[in-house]
Amino acid sequence: MIYRIAFLFLSLIIFQCRPKEAPKEFSFKKKEKESLRKASVFVDLKNKGVGPVSSIVLEEVIDSVLVRKGEAIYKEKCTVCHKIGLKFIGPSPDGILKRRTPEWVMNMILNTDEMLQKDSLAKALFMEFDGQLMVDQKLNEEEARAILEYFRALE
Ligand code: HEC
Repeated sequence: MIYRIAFLFLSLIIFQCRPKEAPKEFSFKKKEKESLRKASVFVDLKNKGVGPVSSIVLEEVIDSVLVRKGEAIYKEKCTVCHKIGLKFIGPSPDGILKRRTPEWVMNMILNTDEMLQKDSLAKALFMEFDGQLMVDQKLNEEEARAILEYFRALE
């Protein structure tokens, strides 16, 4: 009987002392997965969003006149919240066409309120940016198109 108790006791100690999984590696992997789920880096080249723009054909050559026009509007209306190459109140716009369709970008600019209510990606961005609201700048389609060309030139 005493041997049996001693044996049980011993095996309990051995069980307790077994090496645990390496915690560092685990938390690193977890972090990596979380960043993949972030809306600002998430790549979705299918979603066109909701709004007036359903299809855009982009010319292969970037139109530099349109780029300058877009840059001027962007500097006036968007830099309160957006900075190039930097996460600010909103996401950085460079490389955006590697992550989003041009239609989605146009609809985000032209139909901001509805996008933030209905589009899953826009809603996820809103959560990621701590509920900061992108304010609709009431641009027309031509102005939004110029900004899109400016964003293309930033790639
Ligand atoms: C008052 C601040 C504010 C202003 C002004 C603003 N934005 Fe935003 N923008 C945001 C925020 C914040 C987000 C993220 C979504 C959210 O939280 O509403 C965003 C998201 C975006 C996105 C999506 C970015 C991505 O990575 O998917 C685009 C495109 C965009 N804005 C373009 C513009 C343009 C173009 C202008 C100027 C005409 C503009 N924004 C003006 C705050 C602003």
